[in-house]
Formats: sequence, structure tokens, C-alpha cells
Amino acid sequence: MKVKLKSKKFYPCYPVFIVSYYGEDGSVKLSTLSSSYSLGDTFVMGMHAGSYLAQRIETIKGYCINFLPTAYLHAIERAGMVSNNRKADKTEGTGLTFGKSLTVNAPLINGASFVIECEPITERIVTFDGVKHVFGRIKGYLCEESLLTDNGFEYGKLDVPLFEADSRGRVYRRMTTDTEQAGSFF
Ligand SMILES: Cc1cc2nc3c(=O)[nH]c(=O)nc-3n(C[C@H](O)[C@H](O)[C@H](O)COP(=O)(O)O)c2cc1C
Repeated sequence: MKVKLKSKKFYPCYPVFIVSYYGEDGSVKLSTLSSSYSLGDTFVMGMHAGSYLAQRIETIKGYCINFLPTAYLHAIERAGMVSNNRKADKTEGTGLTFGKSLTVNAPLINGASFVIECEPITERIVTFDGVKHVFGRIKGYLCEESLLTDNGFEYGKLDVPLFEADSRGRVYRRMTTDTEQAGSFF
């Protein structure tokens, strides 16, 4: 039996990531997001129009989507609970270190297990109801060597916090290492 859930929003476990990009002054900027999907070579993310990232996204040439292990939740929360609009030293306070993407003009987070390198598709950025929906073109993937075997990416090893939330509360869920072959149930 289904009953009504009274909630203004519902997020059924989206992977949490930090977007890394350059600020106007060339310094490394970070913003945590979860609202997203990827399909083929596009990556789509939703962000509040008032955020620093939303204000920068049409001007920057590239950005990296950094998937960090759950051990980095302190940095993930700082990048998601402090705005670059209000705190110039937001990035420094995360304790993270950075490298440079060779594919797009953006910094990447050294501690990330998996990085998606993107360029914004500026003609596909839509704002409504105070939210900016941003389409990005995926230019490359970078992966920690420990997640690779001779065959390629090793399924079941990636450890990324998942964001589950409704109007009442917000929690992180952790991934398990269990995998089952897709297509084996039909
Ligand atoms: C786990 C987590 C997930 C988040 N997901 C989103 C999201 O999908 N979209 C969004 O607009 N803000 C999201 N936020 C909030 C932003 O990170 C927050 O508004 C932040 O201050 C934006 O930084 P900026 O203004 O420096 O860009 C999330 C925060 C956390 C901690």
C-alpha cells in the first residue's frame, strides 16, 4: 500500500562530488553538488542560481567533477556548506591539494578516485525557478590506478558518498562492494 509522503523534495541517493574550477583571479574554487546525471558524453548538473559556481559557469572554460571517497566528507561538506561568495579562503580550509587537468582548463583534486573532465555547453544552460541546469561535454575520465585491473575499470570498488534527502532530513549512504551483472535477471 502506498501512502503520501509530504515533502517538497526527494533525492534517492545521488553520488556526491566536488566541482573544481578556476575563480576570476585564477585561484582554485570548489563547490559540492549531487543533483546530476550523465548520459553518453554529456554530464548535467543542477545548482542554485545564486551560488558562486552558478555565476562562474558560463565564463569558465572547463571544470572537473571529482568523486572523493567517504573519508573526505569533511572537505566535501566544507565545499558544500560554505560559499565562495562569502569566504575567500573556502578552498584552503578543505585541506585538499590540486593538480591540473591536461584535457580541460581546470584544476583537479589529488584525493579524488575518479574525475570527469568537462567543458560547459553554454548554449545549453537553462535557469528556471532559481536553479541553473548546466549541460557539460565530457572530454575525459581520470581514474586512480587502484581501481583498474588489466581488463579496465574494476566494478564494485568505487567508494563515493550517496546523498539521500527529503524536506525532513539529509543523510549520506555508503556504497557496498556487491555487484551483479546487468542483464543477468531477464
Ligand atoms: C552533500 C551536498 C550536496 C549538495 N548538492 C547540491 C546540489 O546538487 N545543487 C546545489 O545547488 N547545491 C548543492 N549543495 C549545496 C552547495 O554546495 C552550497 O550551496 C555551496 O555553498 C555552493 O558553493 P559556492 O556558492 O561556492 O558555489 C550540496 C551540499 C552538500 C553538502
